[in-house]
Amino acid sequence: MYCARQVHRFQEELQEELDDKRGLEGRRRKVVMQKASGRKLKIDTSNIKGFLDEDEAQRLYQIARKASKRGNCLEIGSYCGKSAVYIGSACQENGALLYSIDHHRGSAEQQPGEAYFDSELFDKNLGCVNTLTPFLSTIERFALKETVIPIVGDSVAIAKGWASQLAMVFIDGGHTFAAAYNDYNCWVPKISAGGFLVIHDIFDDPTAGGQAPRWIYEAALASGLFLPLKRMKTLGILRRVPYGIIPKTALYSYQHWQAP
Ligand SMILES: C[S@@+](CC[C@H](N)C(=O)[O-])C[C@H]1O[C@@H](n2cnc3c(N)ncnc32)[C@H](O)[C@@H]1O
Repeated sequence: MYCARQVHRFQEELQEELDDKRGLEGRRRKVVMQKASGRKLKIDTSNIKGFLDEDEAQRLYQIARKASKRGNCLEIGSYCGKSAVYIGSACQENGALLYSIDHHRGSAEQQPGEAYFDSELFDKNLGCVNTLTPFLSTIERFALKETVIPIVGDSVAIAKGWASQLAMVFIDGGHTFAAAYNDYNCWVPKISAGGFLVIHDIFDDPTAGGQAPRWIYEAALASGLFLPLKRMKTLGILRRVPYGIIPKTALYSYQHWQAP
């Protein structure tokens, strides 16, 4: 249960984020917000294979710093450890954990002959893609072994046995509609009230990339249970509405809703 003061603080915090996104606040507040949340992680990750660009990675770190003050975080899609380094470093600062899920056999688009196949990640002995070794060596190299907990397996199977709440879920697994839908369905219920849902590879232009991540982003927004925060390129960030709070956006949507 939240006391009235906590509810008020959440409401202010969420509204500030929305106002900041829409540029409604004065310059002074923006400067304060940037100072508070804009710290950059100064590390060189250029030799870790991955798909996050530098701006996206830094934003992921900033959101994870906020989230990991509230509890543990989880990502779907470890690959070679790039996102794990940014989220994990934030978790380490706050004494939280990052659970990093991957079967380490590559997504559909990373298989031989597909657009994102990388022959250096193909294990000839096993006869398949294998990203576990590079992932573990990245975690070791950035001294994150105590913070980043690798979970090797299928995200749906793992979700079935997952009981604890998470302060942040980062979805960056398979990009087919089925994979994105499953990750959304399985993991969103585990996000604690006031927690964060972050989704990578949201393309507004369908010719620029697949639309499944965008679909789950829009589905979360349409649920009325998430508020959008400032996006960074293809990185979408949503905040789960705390219990007992009705955001202005949901109320507005209800007032303009036409029953079918
Ligand atoms: C786009 S990559 C992740 C990139 C990583 N987040 C980064 O920043 O470098 C997607 C990863 O998701 C994994 N994956 C796809 N479907 C999965 C599933 N159902 N369960 C577990 N991992 C999955 C793939 O093996 C692949 O390594």
